[in-house]
Amino acid sequence: MTARPSSLPVQVGQNAPIDLFFEKEAPGWTNRYLSRTYQQRRNLVLSVVFEELSKTRKKGAEYRALDFGCGAGVFVGALSTMGISVTGVDRSRAMIEAAQSRLRARSHTEFELLRDGSRNDGAYRQRSYDLVLCLSVLEFVVSPEEIIAQLAALLAADGLLILTVPNRNSYLRRFERFAFDHSSFNRWLPGLNHLALQDCYLRHQTQQFTAEELVHSTKRLGLEVEQHRFHVAPTLCAPIEKLEKVGMMMLLSFRKRIHTG
Ligand SMILES: C[S@@+](CC[C@H](N)C(=O)[O-])C[C@H]1O[C@@H](n2cnc3c(N)ncnc32)[C@H](O)[C@@H]1O
Repeated sequence: MTARPSSLPVQVGQNAPIDLFFEKEAPGWTNRYLSRTYQQRRNLVLSVVFEELSKTRKKGAEYRALDFGCGAGVFVGALSTMGISVTGVDRSRAMIEAAQSRLRARSHTEFELLRDGSRNDGAYRQRSYDLVLCLSVLEFVVSPEEIIAQLAALLAADGLLILTVPNRNSYLRRFERFAFDHSSFNRWLPGLNHLALQDCYLRHQTQQFTAEELVHSTKRLGLEVEQHRFHVAPTLCAPIEKLEKVGMMMLLSFRKRIHTG
């Protein structure tokens, strides 16, 4: 995994720009899922979860999922509708509050706010999970390897980890980065104006990923890749978004294998 050089040093801690960014985004986060690209990502993730549930022998709430970096709880809500037990954790208070106020009445659903130095931090680490989601989180953290290792440790044997991350091999991603770095492009070209915004998400991205490096780095954790799919492209390129050089996002799923010698 290669860190993307950024014009600003990466700060960590609860008042870092990245945390303030998500605090501000929280009230409108679920509305993002009205857009084609977010809906597409949601449907793709949920189709993998459906497929997984059709294979499990566990019934309903016996099946336990963790959504790490759950945001406003879009996937926690969807998974709990499928009848499984879900824990959502996030380091943004506003995101956790938005999720809790929407999903208050759901049974078998719980949330945990991760705060630096909090004594409550990590109650979710006290159990293992059949399914772990980490969706569009790793590109914002300083050390994705550490988080993946932590999530792998929380997976039950034969459990499934699903990641979504930006695809660094996509030419569209490279063009997006180029346009972001050149204001003459992003200010004046229709469709790219959002890149000029003071709070554009690219300002907070620490890195993008390739499928190859993720597959390679997760092997030592006992994770075996099951599938990787490229997706998300502007309408004109949508017919070829499944190609690695095109799709701006990728979904990877990994099975935890326990080798018993
Ligand atoms: C782009 S949002 C994605 C939210 C949700 N997974 C979704 O797909 O709708 C990224 C989320 O990750 C959270 N996050 C970022 N770094 C984190 C960390 N180190 N630990 C926990 N959550 C984190 C942010 O607060 C934010 O809610």
